[in-house]
Amino acid sequence: MEREKLKKLKQMGFLDKQLGDEDKIREKRKKSGIKPTYKMVDTCAGEFDAVTPYYYSTYETEDESEVSERKKVIILGSGPIRIGQGIEFDCCTVHAVFALREIGIETIIINNNPETVSTDFDISDKLYFEPITLEDVLNVVEKENKNLLGVMVQFGGQTAINLTMPLHEHGVKILGTLPENIDKAENRDLFGKILDKLNMPSAEWGTGYSFKEVREIASRIGYPVLVRPSYVLGGRAMEIVQDEIELSEYIEEAVRVSPEHPILIDKFIQDAIEVDVDVVCDGETVLIGGIMEHIEEAGVHSGDSACVIPPQTLNEKILDKIREYSKRLALELKVKGLLNIQYAVKGDTVYTLEANLRASRTVPFVSKSVGVPLAKLAAKVMIGMKLRDLVPDPYLDPMKRINHVAVKEVVFPFTKLPQVDPVLSPEMKSTGEVMGIDKDFAMAYYKSQIAAGNELPLQGTVFISVKKSDKPKILEVGKKFSELGFEIISTSGTSDYLTNNGVENRKILKISEGAPNILDLMRDRKIDLIINTPSIGKNPKRDGYRIRVSAIELDIPYITTVAGALAAVNAIKDVRERRIKVKSWNEYFGR
Ligand SMILES: Nc1ncnc2c1ncn2[C@@H]1O[C@H](COP(=O)(O)OP(=O)(O)O)[C@@H](O)[C@H]1O
Ligand SMILES: [Mg+2]
Repeated sequence: MEREKLKKLKQMGFLDKQLGDEDKIREKRKKSGIKPTYKMVDTCAGEFDAVTPYYYSTYETEDESEVSERKKVIILGSGPIRIGQGIEFDCCTVHAVFALREIGIETIIINNNPETVSTDFDISDKLYFEPITLEDVLNVVEKENKNLLGVMVQFGGQTAINLTMPLHEHGVKILGTLPENIDKAENRDLFGKILDKLNMPSAEWGTGYSFKEVREIASRIGYPVLVRPSYVLGGRAMEIVQDEIELSEYIEEAVRVSPEHPILIDKFIQDAIEVDVDVVCDGETVLIGGIMEHIEEAGVHSGDSACVIPPQTLNEKILDKIREYSKRLALELKVKGLLNIQYAVKGDTVYTLEANLRASRTVPFVSKSVGVPLAKLAAKVMIGMKLRDLVPDPYLDPMKRINHVAVKEVVFPFTKLPQVDPVLSPEMKSTGEVMGIDKDFAMAYYKSQIAAGNELPLQGTVFISVKKSDKPKILEVGKKFSELGFEIISTSGTSDYLTNNGVENRKILKISEGAPNILDLMRDRKIDLIINTPSIGKNPKRDGYRIRVSAIELDIPYITTVAGALAAVNAIKDVRERRIKVKSWNEYFGR
């Protein structure tokens, strides 16, 4: 391709990789002097000279971005906000900027999300409003090369961390944890070997390159299994599969399997408590930021489940095991910066589900809950500072020092997506989160529900309808609601079960059974809370689906898991006996 044509195509906005082999085109561009120039965003609309250090690339002649002599760091943001890449990563990016500013390092953000804080013009020293792609990041790295300490990839979620190896292979210095070690956690085979070496249990798993192979692996490790295309994020296209029939449905309808697109099969650990841990490590010292116990059981994506700090049902022995495993892994991978690990606890066994060598969604929540700014510490550690010099000793396990309980609850976009079934699954659907904080779990949980727009009623009528396997577990919930004087309404199966076990309730028709049915009651505003658990697997149960979707439309609080229902009834009980008090965050930390 001749020079003029290439230049024209670049001016039209084509990416190198759209024009041929990315590296070759890049080489050619460089040889022919076709480099992007950076223009300042004219924040003053031409009225007077803009001075905002806010740039975008074009292929023109004049470059308006002046490179300073200062020591500098480039921080990758997470790009446009979408499900799985939420605002939490932006919070981490901003904190990293603040931390580096404290120690006099120039901060340069690359991020192309106009609707967020990290791209406010007064946050970083310089902002390149560019997509988080190899080409664009390399361009900025070359431009800002003078006294550049390196690039931080840990704050921008999966989008940024995915650029680790490509950037490293192009000779870019990655700050913090070594690229090879980041890669080890992303690669299932390598990660499995590390867990074995560290003597840490994990769920049995395998990779299938054909349907036959997937089926063989599934029957070897035993159903239910969790299946997903390999290398996905946000649990996309991930499903719990109960048997071979569901497996073939999955493979026929959801994802194709082929040698290029293998499928990962994991033993699904049933009825396990999921735990998230956020860690900061400098390669020698490990700071356990916080251990979060999920309210919903494993199988609900960590981004979609509520969680609590400190854990409410795990005993000290389990917690110590979690701490110990987390330390082992952080030291083995020589983490410099952040590490997030997800575990599933069943009995005394702590299974490791996955590790992310980057800031996780929960870093802002943990930081606020324990009063230690994890992202800030991580940024400092990544440029070589030591935790021992940054935090006084007792803070190395700051969760042990708090006297309050913090609950994270997620916020879903369902009101904006009519007809979408709000059931929780391994596939992430949430778009935000809120936090409730108080002396104890019940009140903190109650506050988190209010904040999430799911205010729990303190009296009235509760509708309970659960899948078969949840029936024994829902009994306690039913009993408690009954004791609190709630009227309980149920459809046939659940109703009989409750009645047979001494919980008074009124039977109502299912939607499919005629009128008046549960939907009519909902429309008449006769129901104050809905508890409806969907059956696992496919086969959308029409009734359940319509109830849940209507709950959203009619803005009736609803709960779709037994664990959530139990947390709710306990919270309601407690809140009825006390008044909600508001206290500033500082007061919780005696500041
Ligand atoms: N072996 C397993 N048993 C039970 N639940 C699991 C298992 N593996 C994953 N999960 C559930 O699926 C969710 C998503 O899986 P994860 O491996 O963390 O993928 P992602 O990369 O999307 O975070 C987890 O948060 C957890 O609830
Ligand atoms: Mg995960």
